[in-house]
Amino acid sequence: MRTYYCGELRTKHIGEIVTLYGWVDRRRDHGGVIFLDLRDRSGIVQIVSDPQRTPDSYEQANTLRNEYVIKVIGRVSQRPEESLNSRIPTGEIEIYADNIELLNAVRKQLPFQVSSSETDPVREDLRLKYRYLDLRRAQMTRNLQLRYQVVKAMRRYLEDIEGFVEVETPILTRSTPEGARDYLVPSRVNPGEWFALPQSPQLFKQLLMVSGFDRYYQIARCFRDEDLRADRQPEFTQLDMEMSFMSQEEIIELNENLVCHVFKTIKGIELQRPFPRLTYAEAMERYGSDKPDTRYGLELVNVSDVIKDCGFKVFRDAVTSGGIVKILPIPNGNEAISNVRIKPGGDLFKEASEAGAKGLAYIRVRDNGEIDTIGAIKDNLTEEQKQEILRRTGAKPGHLLLFGAGDAATVNKTLDRLRQVIAREFGLIDPDKINLLWITEFPMFEWNAEEKRLEALHHPFTAPHPDDLDDLKTARAQAYDLVFNGFEVGGGSLRIYQREIQQQVFDAIGLSSEEAQNKFGFLLEAFEYGTPPHGGIAYGLDRLVMLLAAEESIRDVMAFPKTQQARCLMTDAPSGVDAKQLKELHVTSTYKPKA
Ligand code: AMO
Repeated sequence: MRTYYCGELRTKHIGEIVTLYGWVDRRRDHGGVIFLDLRDRSGIVQIVSDPQRTPDSYEQANTLRNEYVIKVIGRVSQRPEESLNSRIPTGEIEIYADNIELLNAVRKQLPFQVSSSETDPVREDLRLKYRYLDLRRAQMTRNLQLRYQVVKAMRRYLEDIEGFVEVETPILTRSTPEGARDYLVPSRVNPGEWFALPQSPQLFKQLLMVSGFDRYYQIARCFRDEDLRADRQPEFTQLDMEMSFMSQEEIIELNENLVCHVFKTIKGIELQRPFPRLTYAEAMERYGSDKPDTRYGLELVNVSDVIKDCGFKVFRDAVTSGGIVKILPIPNGNEAISNVRIKPGGDLFKEASEAGAKGLAYIRVRDNGEIDTIGAIKDNLTEEQKQEILRRTGAKPGHLLLFGAGDAATVNKTLDRLRQVIAREFGLIDPDKINLLWITEFPMFEWNAEEKRLEALHHPFTAPHPDDLDDLKTARAQAYDLVFNGFEVGGGSLRIYQREIQQQVFDAIGLSSEEAQNKFGFLLEAFEYGTPPHGGIAYGLDRLVMLLAAEESIRDVMAFPKTQQARCLMTDAPSGVDAKQLKELHVTSTYKPKA
């Protein structure tokens, strides 16, 4: 039997005979004495095989190679002064091996070095193909254990302190309305019919409130067939919660306490409560984003009213056609950012045009205070207009002002993107800073230009603000998102619990009563049987852990993630299936592989 994990051993164990199991992380031969770093999930310990002191194990140690699986029995000893290693927690001791047993050898060449002493980055496709080896590496072992600790802290807070009950909800279900495409599963026993994998447990958790469960949570797997990014996976995990009889304020307070508990447990950090809040309108105005990174300034300044009737057609037209003109003021930007970067072909121009902007106008404030700008601004803005722009943006010698003009969505998207690029380039982001803030008062709906209809910004079960019931189309929602250093880590709302209001929301998004009945009849019916007022939230667990682990991709905190192309390189899924299976499922494919 194992007596200890490798990483647990300390000076207090000196003199004990221990039995360890693990992998050979590294083997070194120092003038006839063999040193092995033995690794298990807890860390590394040094094993010594000395032909003088432990002759039996020496022969065995001689045959070992990296990643062999072994059992070691030996005595914990103090390391001599000259070989103390303060970089590892077991660095004050070593194990004199009386016996080493080879349990399994490595028979193929390793696709990459697993050893914790290897610092060269490994290609991600290799890491994903041989994920079981990648998970042996220190980074991934640490991240998955951190993830486990985060979930444990969440469970402990919700169950022991707040009395939440975990309930599992179905994976095979009807399509849920979170706005992405569904993953579909054909039903063999119901020919021609399909299940959808849940995009979230939204409707089930609301129904659990109807059932009286009152405080529900679940570590819930969600599936969304959407375009992937570093912080998005097709299959991801939420901490999903729903509560009855609580106001928005009470839900937010409980959630701040939960987040504080997680930070205290995981990082030993006491977060300041209450977390700051911004309304959606403020966030968009000041940062051009509903998930602003507020670790740094670089706030946007709206100058639409200043230049609404200026001579520069691009600006004037933007405002008269209902759009806006905003500025990203960049202190010290004059020197650091050349015109080449702002003009077509430049990197900042490219960023802007990827966000939909047609161009980037600018004003430079030279060190002597003089203004340098493009001809169109020079010639078409009055001196007062220029001075008002400088005053509003607080521009000083050395400033660069970048303009966005057009429809609000494009301008905000462009300047938000540039703001982030500049913050990184100018080193304005303090990596040790933790900024958590709530965004509140989201609009209920946004305009889907493609489908020419309103759609729910969160989901259609979000309750409108009680002051805005007269005109639902422009109403604010009782919704709140939690933003952590510029990432949306959670989102929730109070829910509609009255059938009439639910119907009005369906009407607003153009869902006929018939369609509503067809899709959500079970929910509407449930509303007739005594539904309590309720609300909830879901956290993106992977994103939260990614930020806590200071990783840049959620793939690095998931055991077996998919690639950006939604593939698993290890199992090679998705894959073709037997014609027989398809026949049983009554499915034929129209896909023709390219010749
Ligand atoms: P929402 O769609 O905002 O809300 O999702 C909640 C949180 O889940 C995370 N998230 C993702 N993480 C990784 N990959 C993805 N593809 C992905 N999509 C979302 C985000 C997000 O904040 N049912 C509602 C919650 C509620 O109203 O209670 C919902 O799912 O961090």
